Amino acid sequence: MFKRNIVISVLVLSAAPGYPYQNDANLQYKRPSEPLPDDPERASKVIDAFKLSWEGYYKYAFPNDELHPVSNSSSNSRNAWGASAVDALSTALIMNDSVIANQILAYIPTIDFTKTETPVSLFETTIRYLGGMLSAYDLLTGPVAYIPAKKEYVTALITQSTSLGNALSYAFDTPSGVPYNTLFFANRTVEDSPNGLATVGTLILEWTRLADLTGIKTYAALANRAETYLLNPHPASSSPFPGLLGRNINVTTGEFLDAVGGWTGGSDSYYEYLLKMYIYDPDRFSLLRDRYILAADSTIAHLSSHPASRPELTFLAQYDGTHLTLKSEHLAGFAGGNFILAGQVLGRTDYVKYGLALVDAWHETYNRTLTGIGPEEFGWDANQVPEDQVDFFNRSGFYITNAQYNLRPEVIESYFYAFRATGDRKYQDWAWDAFVAINATTQVGSGYSSIRDVNAEKGGGYGDFQESFWFAEVCKYAYMIFGPQDSSEGGVNVGRGGRDTWVFNTEAHPVRVWG
Ligand SMILES: *[C@@H]1O[C@H](CO)[C@@H](O)[C@H](O)[C@H]1NC(C)=O
Ligand SMILES: *[C@@H]1O[C@H](CO)[C@@H](O)[C@H](O)[C@H]1NC(C)=O
Ligand SMILES: *[C@@H]1O[C@H](CO)[C@@H](O)[C@H](O)[C@H]1NC(C)=O
Ligand SMILES: *[C@@H]1O[C@H](CO)[C@@H](O)[C@H](O)[C@H]1NC(C)=O
Ligand SMILES: *[C@@H]1O[C@H](CO)[C@@H](O)[C@H](O)[C@H]1NC(C)=O
Ligand SMILES: *[C@@H]1O[C@H](CO)[C@@H](O)[C@H](O)[C@H]1NC(C)=O
Ligand SMILES: *[C@@H]1O[C@H](CO)[C@@H](O)[C@H](O)[C@H]1NC(C)=O
Repeated sequence: MFKRNIVISVLVLSAAPGYPYQNDANLQYKRPSEPLPDDPERASKVIDAFKLSWEGYYKYAFPNDELHPVSNSSSNSRNAWGASAVDALSTALIMNDSVIANQILAYIPTIDFTKTETPVSLFETTIRYLGGMLSAYDLLTGPVAYIPAKKEYVTALITQSTSLGNALSYAFDTPSGVPYNTLFFANRTVEDSPNGLATVGTLILEWTRLADLTGIKTYAALANRAETYLLNPHPASSSPFPGLLGRNINVTTGEFLDAVGGWTGGSDSYYEYLLKMYIYDPDRFSLLRDRYILAADSTIAHLSSHPASRPELTFLAQYDGTHLTLKSEHLAGFAGGNFILAGQVLGRTDYVKYGLALVDAWHETYNRTLTGIGPEEFGWDANQVPEDQVDFFNRSGFYITNAQYNLRPEVIESYFYAFRATGDRKYQDWAWDAFVAINATTQVGSGYSSIRDVNAEKGGGYGDFQESFWFAEVCKYAYMIFGPQDSSEGGVNVGRGGRDTWVFNTEAHPVRVWG
């Protein structure tokens, strides 16, 4: 039986609550008169999947970082601090599951974030651990304050975030202030290599939130200083199109080392956070909004690409200087949702329409494969179609270059924004198709596993790895598409009217906006 759960709706500033956008005539901004349709049965099925995988993890892997669901064993790819547990917390809270939430809350105070034998990624640690704990704090001091069994669980989230922030801070101790990404806590050294656009540009939300919650401004100052090199990129050649940047950055000088990029991994969430910081606090982050608009306009003008075999589809090319390459990946599937969110927040109908077009194209990457799941990487260069995929390319508009599926969320994430913006049930159906396919193909043993080939029977075999973002992202976005949509009933606002109350970090942890 489905029971009413928490609502997190996120979109929209007062200027631009968005609904509906089904067709051009309707492309206007107006407050929704009706709540969006929820779908309790499907929501409860998503909860079942979340619980099944949590129970497998809790039995065979907790408090290690992740479950190997086929062999019922575990591993520690994220410093053995319990990545799946911390990543699952905000989802358990949004699903109003106080049993799972309290299992995690009781564990968090026991983590020693100052010690680990393995290399620490500043970026991954920030988005999963810091983001997960700060989000839980925001939820537990707001809409679900009744969940924690002990008050200390809530204060520990801040104590532990501070401890982690302090442990990570030496990363920023470089001549430029652009941090190193790879740290060795045991001897307090770093791996001396260039950092990247996404890994530098996806810290500012979590570090600013940590500063705003603790009153310790240093955390925000560190992330902001690093961000200045991205907002004013040097040399000029590293920005081949206005607002679109290169990837590798010299941490000594803060200068870019190339002009390679796109909306794909390594660059992606820099653009995502430009917009999201403006949502977080329009006063402090208006320059980031301006940079977002530059990047978005350049993307539409220069990176839009239509496969020869399916010219009605719009994918996003990558670039090296002004030379485009016609390939992309699952990670970039968030772009549709990001454009839709931007269109609502900035009052830009053209962004909403463009985002919906990207959502259509990434839907094809799911809809056309044998399993109904989209591949890790794909291309659409008519001159480079692999011989054995000529027919597939002709039908589908893309060919597969890496057929794995690692339980990534981005396409379902974009369906979430498309649904919230339009109220069109089509996007619920697409999300359901995707979730049913993922459930049918990746559920195995005690959980859900990465698979080898989305275009083969049964996914071509299991990778025996359940990523922590399965809990944080796939389960959460899928749930929110079907769960309660009307904030007035659900308790945790999140209005689709008025200013957004929450903004999701790149790991789908909702952060309460400033003010
Ligand atoms: C959350 O769950 C509790 C029981 O654990 C229930 O009493 C409460 O009504 C639920 N709240 C919502 C908003 O569903
Ligand atoms: C610090 O530890 C790392 C990882 O064990 C090692 O690779 C590196 O050489 C060490 N650096 C120094 C200066 O000891
Ligand atoms: C970064 O810049 C410094 C100072 O100019 C230089 O010594 C170093 O070689 C550069 N590193 C890379 C990876 O380009
Ligand atoms: C593909 O999309 C169509 C139309 O929405 C739908 O009927 C079909 O079930 C989808 N197939 C998969 C594998 O998702
Ligand atoms: C693609 O399909 C069209 C018809 O739909 C056909 O005329 C064309 O020959 C096909 N191209 C290839 C390369 O198979
Ligand atoms: C997931 O698969 C299980 C059986 O393997 C089934 O009971 C459940 O209904 C499925 N859920 C969805 C959302 O398809
Ligand atoms: C792993 O655990 C699941 C669920 O408890 C069980 O069905 C499966 O047989 C186990 N696999 C192995 C290899 O023990």
